Amino acid sequence: VQTALVAERHALRHQLRHQRRTLSKIQRQHAAQQLAIQFDRHRLLKPGLHIAVYLAMPGEFDLKALIARAQARRCHLYVPHIINAARRQMRFIPLLVNSPLQRHRWGMPQLHRLSRRMISIRQLDMVLVPIVAFDANGNRLGMGAGFYDRHLAGVARSQWRPRIIGVAYAMQQVAHIPTLAHDVPLPWVMTEQGLMHSGHHRS
Ligand SMILES: Nc1ncnc2c1ncn2[C@@H]1O[C@H](COP(=O)(O)OP(=O)(O)O)[C@@H](O)[C@H]1O
Ligand SMILES: [Mg+2]
Repeated sequence: VQTALVAERHALRHQLRHQRRTLSKIQRQHAAQQLAIQFDRHRLLKPGLHIAVYLAMPGEFDLKALIARAQARRCHLYVPHIINAARRQMRFIPLLVNSPLQRHRWGMPQLHRLSRRMISIRQLDMVLVPIVAFDANGNRLGMGAGFYDRHLAGVARSQWRPRIIGVAYAMQQVAHIPTLAHDVPLPWVMTEQGLMHSGHHRS
């Protein structure tokens, strides 16, 4: 049963990554602008908030427009940094204006180690999570390495959790994602069309 489930996840991941690549540059740019507008509309970019964003890999929902707006609103931004690739461990470090970029061997852009200063997840108000596929219950497929599942493990059940918001194109929603025990569900998903909350939403 587990094997079939894992195979189904693999197929879904493959299919949605393919579908995501069919979006045109214009569609991506429009969606990026809409996403920033949606965050404002929901009053999620208050001055002084500590927000973890991500630096998009090719195909992923690009947050540049949102990042620019959040910086204009004087939010403090952080990005993932892989501290141990073998153990698939990441932490969040400050996104400084003009931080030099390097490409990690996993393929994702990340900041040069000069700017490395880790922040505890307890100090974050919001974490934006990249998505390959999601469903209405907030179940998520990522790129398949489990970085976010590991880093957010435990957060979902605690009081001090930050607001966890997945970010995806609306077209990345599917009817059902088969989940495994370690998967951390998303209470919220923001798309270019608006904010969705799932059965995992409590507050
Ligand atoms: N909290 C965790 N502790 C240990 N291993 C984990 C944890 N979360 C995920 N993993 C491992 O990471 C791998 C990838 O997880 P998966 O959920 O398939 O990827 P993704 O969430 O990126 O789509 C799995 O083999 C899983 O066992
Ligand atoms: Mg997972």
